[in-house]
Amino acid sequence: MSDSRVYRDGDKMVKVYQSATYEYVKQAYLRQKFIYDAGLPIPAVFGITKINETETALEMEYLEGEPLPQMYEGKGEEMLNKAMQIMVKLQCQMNAIDASGLPDLTDMYANEITTTPYLTAQLKETLLNYMKRLDKGKTNLCHGDIHPYNIMYNGDKYWIIDWEDAGKGDPAADACMQYFYSMRWGAKSNNRSYEQYLQLFCQNGEDYMQRFCQSGEGYLRLFCEESGIPREDVLVWLPVIAGVQVNIDDEGDRVFISRFIDEWYKSYAE
Ligand SMILES: Nc1ncnc2c1ncn2[C@@H]1O[C@H](COP(=O)(O)OP(=O)(O)O)[C@@H](O)[C@H]1O
Ligand SMILES: [Mg+2]
Repeated sequence: MSDSRVYRDGDKMVKVYQSATYEYVKQAYLRQKFIYDAGLPIPAVFGITKINETETALEMEYLEGEPLPQMYEGKGEEMLNKAMQIMVKLQCQMNAIDASGLPDLTDMYANEITTTPYLTAQLKETLLNYMKRLDKGKTNLCHGDIHPYNIMYNGDKYWIIDWEDAGKGDPAADACMQYFYSMRWGAKSNNRSYEQYLQLFCQNGEDYMQRFCQSGEGYLRLFCEESGIPREDVLVWLPVIAGVQVNIDDEGDRVFISRFIDEWYKSYAE
Protein backbone atom coordinates (compact mmCIF):
# COMPACT_ATOMS: atom_id res chain seq x y z
CA MET A 1 0.00 0.00 0.00
CA SER A 2 1.47 3.36 -0.98
CA ASP A 3 0.51 7.01 -1.40
CA SER A 4 -0.80 8.12 -4.75
CA ARG A 5 -2.93 10.72 -6.48
CA VAL A 6 -4.86 10.46 -9.71
CA TYR A 7 -5.68 12.93 -12.46
CA ARG A 8 -7.27 12.81 -15.90
CA ASP A 9 -5.33 13.61 -19.04
CA GLY A 10 -7.73 13.35 -21.99
CA ASP A 11 -8.49 9.67 -22.55
CA LYS A 12 -5.91 8.70 -19.96
CA MET A 13 -6.03 8.34 -16.22
CA VAL A 14 -2.67 9.04 -14.60
CA LYS A 15 -1.92 7.58 -11.18
CA VAL A 16 1.12 9.20 -9.60
CA TYR A 17 2.81 7.13 -6.90
CA GLN A 18 4.44 9.53 -4.49
CA SER A 19 6.78 7.52 -2.38
CA ALA A 20 7.17 4.26 -4.28
CA THR A 21 10.25 3.15 -6.19
CA TYR A 22 10.25 2.96 -9.99
CA GLU A 23 10.55 -0.82 -9.66
CA TYR A 24 7.42 -0.98 -7.48
CA VAL A 25 5.39 0.93 -10.09
CA LYS A 26 6.86 -1.19 -12.87
CA GLN A 27 5.64 -4.31 -11.05
CA ALA A 28 2.20 -2.69 -10.60
CA TYR A 29 2.14 -1.98 -14.36
CA LEU A 30 3.12 -5.57 -15.30
CA ARG A 31 0.52 -6.98 -12.92
CA GLN A 32 -2.28 -4.80 -14.31
CA LYS A 33 -1.24 -5.74 -17.85
CA PHE A 34 -1.35 -9.45 -17.00
CA ILE A 35 -4.84 -9.09 -15.51
CA TYR A 36 -6.12 -7.03 -18.46
CA ASP A 37 -4.69 -9.57 -20.91
CA ALA A 38 -6.44 -12.36 -18.96
CA GLY A 39 -9.72 -10.74 -20.06
CA LEU A 40 -10.99 -9.28 -16.81
CA PRO A 41 -12.88 -5.96 -17.14
CA ILE A 42 -10.26 -3.52 -15.83
CA PRO A 43 -8.68 -0.36 -17.30
CA ALA A 44 -6.03 -1.04 -19.98
CA VAL A 45 -2.54 0.11 -18.97
CA PHE A 46 -0.35 2.15 -21.31
CA GLY A 47 2.96 2.58 -19.51
CA ILE A 48 4.94 4.19 -16.73
CA THR A 49 6.93 7.43 -16.57
CA LYS A 50 9.49 8.48 -14.00
CA ILE A 51 8.64 12.05 -12.95
CA ASN A 52 11.44 12.64 -10.44
CA GLU A 53 13.39 10.79 -7.74
CA THR A 54 10.29 10.03 -5.67
CA GLU A 55 7.38 10.10 -8.13
CA THR A 56 6.44 7.66 -10.88
CA ALA A 57 3.27 7.80 -12.99
CA LEU A 58 1.22 4.83 -14.17
CA GLU A 59 -0.87 5.66 -17.23
CA MET A 60 -4.06 3.79 -17.94
CA GLU A 61 -7.36 4.00 -19.78
CA TYR A 62 -9.76 6.60 -18.40
CA LEU A 63 -13.11 5.00 -17.53
CA GLU A 64 -16.23 7.12 -18.03
CA GLY A 65 -17.99 5.98 -14.92
CA GLU A 66 -18.54 6.31 -11.21
CA PRO A 67 -17.54 4.28 -8.16
CA LEU A 68 -20.11 1.58 -7.34
CA PRO A 69 -21.43 3.20 -4.11
CA GLN A 70 -23.06 5.88 -6.33
CA MET A 71 -25.38 3.13 -7.47
CA TYR A 72 -26.81 2.32 -4.04
CA GLU A 73 -26.01 4.98 -1.46
CA GLY A 74 -29.26 6.40 -0.10
CA LYS A 75 -31.24 4.22 -2.51
CA GLY A 76 -32.41 1.44 -0.24
CA GLU A 77 -31.77 -2.20 0.44
CA GLU A 78 -32.70 -3.47 -3.02
CA MET A 79 -30.09 -1.39 -4.85
CA LEU A 80 -27.46 -2.29 -2.26
CA ASN A 81 -28.24 -5.93 -2.81
CA LYS A 82 -28.01 -5.53 -6.58
CA ALA A 83 -24.65 -3.77 -6.31
CA MET A 84 -23.29 -6.44 -3.95
CA GLN A 85 -24.43 -9.12 -6.39
CA ILE A 86 -22.51 -7.41 -9.19
CA MET A 87 -19.46 -7.15 -6.99
CA VAL A 88 -19.42 -10.82 -5.99
CA LYS A 89 -19.87 -11.90 -9.63
CA LEU A 90 -16.87 -9.78 -10.62
CA GLN A 91 -14.89 -11.22 -7.71
CA CYS A 92 -15.64 -14.80 -8.72
CA GLN A 93 -14.74 -14.01 -12.34
CA MET A 94 -11.44 -12.63 -11.01
CA ASN A 95 -10.81 -15.57 -8.65
CA ALA A 96 -11.20 -17.98 -11.59
CA ILE A 97 -7.98 -16.62 -13.13
CA ASP A 98 -4.78 -18.46 -12.21
CA ALA A 99 -2.23 -15.98 -10.89
CA SER A 100 0.69 -18.32 -10.20
CA GLY A 101 3.19 -15.75 -11.52
CA LEU A 102 2.08 -12.97 -9.16
CA PRO A 103 3.25 -12.22 -5.60
CA ASP A 104 1.62 -14.02 -2.67
CA LEU A 105 -1.27 -12.22 -1.03
CA THR A 106 -0.09 -13.54 2.34
CA ASP A 107 3.36 -11.95 1.81
CA MET A 108 1.61 -8.61 1.41
CA TYR A 109 -0.43 -9.29 4.58
CA ALA A 110 2.71 -10.35 6.45
CA ASN A 111 4.47 -7.18 5.37
CA GLU A 112 1.62 -4.97 6.66
CA ILE A 113 1.45 -6.87 9.95
CA THR A 114 5.21 -6.87 10.47
CA THR A 115 5.69 -3.17 9.79
CA THR A 116 2.73 -1.65 11.64
CA PRO A 117 3.60 0.29 14.80
CA TYR A 118 0.15 -0.51 16.22
CA LEU A 119 0.64 -4.16 17.21
CA THR A 120 2.88 -5.60 19.91
CA ALA A 121 5.67 -7.99 18.92
CA GLN A 122 3.77 -10.83 20.58
CA LEU A 123 0.55 -10.09 18.69
CA LYS A 124 2.45 -9.87 15.43
CA GLU A 125 4.03 -13.25 16.00
CA THR A 126 0.72 -14.84 16.98
CA LEU A 127 -1.05 -13.37 13.93
CA LEU A 128 1.71 -14.46 11.56
CA ASN A 129 1.71 -18.02 12.93
CA TYR A 130 -2.08 -18.12 12.78
CA MET A 131 -1.92 -16.96 9.15
CA LYS A 132 0.64 -19.62 8.23
CA ARG A 133 -1.78 -22.29 9.37
CA LEU A 134 -4.57 -20.84 7.21
CA ASP A 135 -2.41 -20.44 4.13
CA LYS A 136 -3.01 -23.38 1.80
CA GLY A 137 -0.88 -21.98 -1.03
CA LYS A 138 -3.79 -21.20 -3.35
CA THR A 139 -3.02 -19.35 -6.58
CA ASN A 140 -6.33 -17.71 -7.46
CA LEU A 141 -6.15 -14.10 -8.61
CA CYS A 142 -7.03 -11.89 -5.63
CA HIS A 143 -7.37 -8.11 -5.57
CA GLY A 144 -5.84 -7.39 -2.18
CA ASP A 145 -8.12 -4.43 -1.38
CA ILE A 146 -11.52 -5.30 -2.73
CA HIS A 147 -14.36 -2.92 -1.79
CA PRO A 148 -17.10 -1.02 -3.70
CA TYR A 149 -14.98 2.12 -4.18
CA ASN A 150 -12.58 0.01 -6.25
CA ILE A 151 -15.35 -0.91 -8.67
CA MET A 152 -16.46 1.54 -11.38
CA TYR A 153 -19.67 1.41 -13.40
CA ASN A 154 -21.36 3.43 -16.12
CA GLY A 155 -24.89 2.07 -15.83
CA ASP A 156 -24.05 -0.69 -18.28
CA LYS A 157 -20.48 -1.89 -17.72
CA TYR A 158 -18.46 -2.61 -14.59
CA TRP A 159 -14.71 -2.56 -14.01
CA ILE A 160 -12.41 -3.37 -11.10
CA ILE A 161 -9.68 -0.76 -10.47
CA ASP A 162 -6.76 -0.16 -8.07
CA TRP A 163 -4.66 -3.28 -8.61
CA GLU A 164 -1.49 -2.41 -6.74
CA ASP A 165 -1.98 -5.04 -4.00
CA ALA A 166 -3.13 -7.84 -6.31
CA GLY A 167 -1.60 -11.28 -6.02
CA LYS A 168 -2.21 -14.98 -5.87
CA GLY A 169 -4.01 -16.34 -2.86
CA ASP A 170 -7.15 -17.62 -1.21
CA PRO A 171 -10.41 -16.01 -2.45
CA ALA A 172 -11.83 -16.42 1.07
CA ALA A 173 -9.09 -14.15 2.47
CA ASP A 174 -9.72 -11.55 -0.23
CA ALA A 175 -13.48 -11.62 0.46
CA CYS A 176 -12.78 -11.23 4.16
CA MET A 177 -11.16 -7.87 3.38
CA GLN A 178 -14.45 -6.50 1.98
CA TYR A 179 -16.37 -8.20 4.78
CA PHE A 180 -14.29 -6.49 7.44
CA TYR A 181 -14.66 -3.12 5.66
CA SER A 182 -18.43 -3.45 5.45
CA MET A 183 -18.58 -4.45 9.08
CA ARG A 184 -16.69 -1.31 10.06
CA TRP A 185 -18.69 0.94 7.74
CA GLY A 186 -21.87 -0.69 9.02
CA ALA A 187 -20.95 0.38 12.54
CA LYS A 188 -20.51 3.95 11.34
CA SER A 189 -23.65 4.20 9.23
CA ASN A 190 -25.78 2.80 12.06
CA ASN A 191 -24.74 5.91 13.97
CA ARG A 192 -23.32 3.86 16.76
CA SER A 193 -20.16 4.98 18.44
CA TYR A 194 -17.34 2.48 18.25
CA GLU A 195 -17.68 1.99 21.96
CA GLN A 196 -21.36 1.06 21.68
CA TYR A 197 -20.61 -1.15 18.75
CA LEU A 198 -17.88 -2.95 20.60
CA GLN A 199 -20.07 -3.46 23.62
CA LEU A 200 -22.70 -4.94 21.40
CA PHE A 201 -20.28 -7.49 20.05
CA CYS A 202 -17.86 -8.06 22.89
CA GLN A 203 -20.24 -8.49 25.78
CA ASN A 204 -20.17 -12.21 25.39
CA GLY A 205 -16.60 -13.37 24.80
CA GLU A 206 -17.29 -16.63 23.07
CA ASP A 207 -19.61 -15.66 20.30
CA TYR A 208 -18.43 -12.09 19.84
CA MET A 209 -17.19 -13.06 16.39
CA GLN A 210 -20.67 -14.22 15.40
CA ARG A 211 -22.21 -10.98 16.55
CA PHE A 212 -19.50 -8.86 15.08
CA CYS A 213 -20.29 -10.17 11.68
CA GLN A 214 -23.85 -9.06 11.31
CA SER A 215 -23.40 -5.83 9.38
CA GLY A 216 -21.37 -7.38 6.56
CA GLU A 217 -23.72 -10.33 6.45
CA GLY A 218 -25.53 -9.43 3.21
CA TYR A 219 -22.29 -9.28 1.26
CA LEU A 220 -20.95 -12.46 2.82
CA ARG A 221 -24.11 -14.44 2.08
CA LEU A 222 -23.98 -13.43 -1.60
CA PHE A 223 -20.25 -14.15 -1.87
CA CYS A 224 -20.62 -17.62 -0.35
CA GLU A 225 -23.58 -18.43 -2.60
CA GLU A 226 -21.78 -17.34 -5.74
CA SER A 227 -18.38 -18.89 -4.91
CA GLY A 228 -19.50 -22.03 -3.07
CA ILE A 229 -17.01 -21.14 -0.32
CA PRO A 230 -18.33 -21.86 3.20
CA ARG A 231 -18.91 -18.84 5.41
CA GLU A 232 -16.53 -20.15 8.09
CA ASP A 233 -13.67 -20.28 5.59
CA VAL A 234 -14.02 -16.51 5.13
CA LEU A 235 -14.50 -15.72 8.82
CA VAL A 236 -11.32 -17.49 9.97
CA TRP A 237 -9.32 -14.80 8.13
CA LEU A 238 -10.82 -11.96 10.21
CA PRO A 239 -7.94 -11.59 12.71
CA VAL A 240 -5.38 -11.48 9.87
CA ILE A 241 -7.41 -8.93 7.90
CA ALA A 242 -7.84 -6.83 11.04
CA GLY A 243 -4.05 -6.94 11.46
CA VAL A 244 -3.63 -5.76 7.87
CA GLN A 245 -6.15 -2.92 8.27
CA VAL A 246 -4.98 -1.64 11.65
CA ASN A 247 -2.34 0.51 9.98
CA ILE A 248 -4.64 3.43 9.17
CA ASP A 249 -4.62 7.13 9.95
CA ASP A 250 -8.06 7.51 11.53
CA GLU A 251 -7.61 7.00 15.26
CA GLY A 252 -11.22 5.96 15.92
CA ASP A 253 -11.00 3.26 13.28
CA ARG A 254 -7.67 2.13 14.61
CA VAL A 255 -8.86 1.83 18.19
CA PHE A 256 -11.82 -0.20 16.98
CA ILE A 257 -9.66 -2.57 14.98
CA SER A 258 -7.12 -2.94 17.79
CA ARG A 259 -9.89 -3.83 20.21
CA PHE A 260 -11.17 -6.41 17.78
CA ILE A 261 -7.72 -8.00 17.58
CA ASP A 262 -7.34 -7.92 21.38
CA GLU A 263 -10.70 -9.64 21.85
CA TRP A 264 -9.72 -12.29 19.35
CA TYR A 265 -6.35 -12.78 21.01
CA LYS A 266 -7.95 -13.27 24.42
CA SER A 267 -10.16 -16.08 23.18
CA TYR A 268 -7.44 -17.55 20.93
CA ALA A 269 -4.77 -17.66 23.63
CA GLU A 270 -7.08 -19.47 26.08
N1 LIG B 1 -8.98 4.25 -14.81
C1 LIG B 1 -9.75 5.13 -14.15
N2 LIG B 1 -10.71 5.81 -14.81
C2 LIG B 1 -11.49 6.71 -14.15
N3 LIG B 1 -11.40 6.98 -12.84
C3 LIG B 1 -10.47 6.33 -12.12
C4 LIG B 1 -9.59 5.37 -12.74
N4 LIG B 1 -8.75 4.89 -11.80
C5 LIG B 1 -9.10 5.52 -10.66
N5 LIG B 1 -10.13 6.38 -10.84
C6 LIG B 1 -10.74 7.26 -9.82
O1 LIG B 1 -9.77 7.62 -8.86
C7 LIG B 1 -10.11 7.11 -7.57
C8 LIG B 1 -8.85 6.61 -6.86
O2 LIG B 1 -8.22 5.62 -7.64
P1 LIG B 1 -7.65 4.28 -7.01
O3 LIG B 1 -6.87 3.59 -8.07
O4 LIG B 1 -8.74 3.51 -6.36
O5 LIG B 1 -6.62 4.87 -5.93
P2 LIG B 1 -6.45 4.70 -4.36
O6 LIG B 1 -5.27 3.79 -4.21
O7 LIG B 1 -6.22 6.09 -3.89
O8 LIG B 1 -7.72 4.10 -3.79
C9 LIG B 1 -11.14 6.01 -7.84
O9 LIG B 1 -12.04 5.84 -6.77
C10 LIG B 1 -11.84 6.51 -9.08
O10 LIG B 1 -12.86 7.42 -8.72
MG1 LIG C 1 -9.03 2.70 -4.43
